[in-house]
Amino acid sequence: MYDVNKLVDKLYEKTTLSKEEWIYLIKNRNDVDKEHLFKLARDRQQEYYGKDVYSRGLIEFSNYCRNNCLYCGIRRDNTNLLRYRLTKDEILECAKEGYRLGYRTIVLQSGEDMHYTDDMICDIVSSIKNLYKDVAITLSIGEKSYESYQKYYDAGADRYLLRHESAVEKHYESLHPKQMSFKGRIKCIKDLKEIGYQVGCGFMVNAPGQKDEYLADEMLFLKEIDPAMVGIGPFIPHKDTPFKNEMAGTLDMTIFLLACIRLSIPSVLLPATTALGTISPIGRELGIKAGANVVMPNLSPVRVRKLYELYDNKICTGDEAAQCIGCLKGRIESVGYNLVSARGDSKNPSYVRR
Ligand code: SAM
Ligand code: FES
Repeated sequence: MYDVNKLVDKLYEKTTLSKEEWIYLIKNRNDVDKEHLFKLARDRQQEYYGKDVYSRGLIEFSNYCRNNCLYCGIRRDNTNLLRYRLTKDEILECAKEGYRLGYRTIVLQSGEDMHYTDDMICDIVSSIKNLYKDVAITLSIGEKSYESYQKYYDAGADRYLLRHESAVEKHYESLHPKQMSFKGRIKCIKDLKEIGYQVGCGFMVNAPGQKDEYLADEMLFLKEIDPAMVGIGPFIPHKDTPFKNEMAGTLDMTIFLLACIRLSIPSVLLPATTALGTISPIGRELGIKAGANVVMPNLSPVRVRKLYELYDNKICTGDEAAQCIGCLKGRIESVGYNLVSARGDSKNPSYVRR
């Protein structure tokens, strides 16, 4: 019906495809000339970001969560897990080390842990901003009210990562308990955008039940939301979750989709995720060669890293922060890119702080 390589060229030129074209391209991805696709994705990336790959220092500050997502290793019902919380001082200590190592974006991530009140989150955010004026702060702490998101923004948070997890309501419902709602999740993403955050959304590649048709919806959803960042990584089963026997996502599908996302939203910030590095020893390098331009090394204290195990065999849980960045620098240089410490704000003109 279509020529897949012509569809790739069309995506490069027009940054969009129809639903039928997406479905055809995804279903027939084995026929795509991958070298050509990845080259176009790299060209687009370099138009906006040159050879720079941005580093974001990730502080996983709590593994308590009130939610029970079926795929997630830190879900509430996992009793096989020691829970931890970092204090404000411990978080500031990690941020200090991150700053010393050159990070100019700090990502604060946790489960949905109600222990941290809005005032506590605002205090942590404003303390980091006061100490390090040139640092961008990304929050990734789940679903909150519009008012809470506004408070964090006013305290100085610049960006927010909230993966939508699935753009197809019935698929979203199959991944989450009934207390969680698709509409609620999408409302959060729209609220964050309206407030002025640089917003990141995304999904797990090959999540249980994900069909090729659904991936076409993902692509159209991303285009419509026009996020500053898109986080995608392979689903990987965790032994203490209901999805423990499900198949992990593949390297091929993940890097194919990374390249498609780069062509669809040329200015997007696109991480080569830790999950991608977990399913393949050179997953992140291949991600960068397919158009990704962000890495998120771990800044959490080594003693808690293994406890933030979202999926089995997560990598980078043993190294000190300095070793982590040294390792990633070498990996990125090995594929011809430079790891840079700049804040690396989105080049998308619709994301200008008000
Ligand atoms: N609580 C926050 C939230 O809900 O956005 C942030 C933490 S949550 C653990 C971060 C992301 O981890 C999720 O959005 C999900 O896509 C990813 N994740 C969770 N379990 C995973 C798994 N088994 N395999 C791959 N990614 C997973
Ligand atoms: Fe809450 Fe995964 S279930 S972070």
